[in-house]
Amino acid sequence: MTDTMPHGELTLQTIAMPADTNANGDIFGGWLMSQMDLGSSVLARTRARGRVATIAVDGMTFQQPVRVGDILTIYAEMVREGTTSMTICVEAWIRRQPSGEHCRVTQARFIFVAVDEAGRKRPLPELGQP
Ligand SMILES: CC(C)(COP(=O)(O)OP(=O)(O)OC[C@H]1O[C@@H](n2cnc3c(N)ncnc32)[C@H](O)[C@@H]1OP(=O)(O)O)[C@@H](O)C(=O)NCCC(=O)NCCS
Repeated sequence: MTDTMPHGELTLQTIAMPADTNANGDIFGGWLMSQMDLGSSVLARTRARGRVATIAVDGMTFQQPVRVGDILTIYAEMVREGTTSMTICVEAWIRRQPSGEHCRVTQARFIFVAVDEAGRKRPLPELGQP
């Protein structure tokens, strides 16, 4: 997969803040993961037309550090739909400040399951069904 441009749909954008750092002043990997979870859930909730749960995260790779003030953008692409599950490839890119450098920092596959109000799995609705 080329790392010169993002893949997928822009689903979330935010700024890395001092509150998201660890004792060394670096941004927590867990914060980045939660942004990727949120960003990919936008796609999953839209496709499932409702509640979803994250069931697995595969191949999480941290390629570059994120620093305070970096603009973080999440891109998500649906790559597989099962009966109840959705596999979404997620990339996190940053625009460093003040240099303007644009680079991918993390990628992973998030798997979501469509769930009902009680948290039980449910089949994905047919495409085009109201
Ligand atoms: C989501 C949940 C309701 C699913 O119920 P379940 O009985 O475990 O579901 P199954 O084992 O039948 O799996 C459901 C689907 O996920 C897929 N799946 C399960 N584990 C998977 C894994 N590790 N990787 C990829 N896909 C997986 C199954 O293949 C199935 O897909 P399909 O219906 O499209 O064929 C249940 O696992 C749950 O509540 N998990 C906790 C979710 C959660 O709290 N997430 C947030 C964590 S903080």
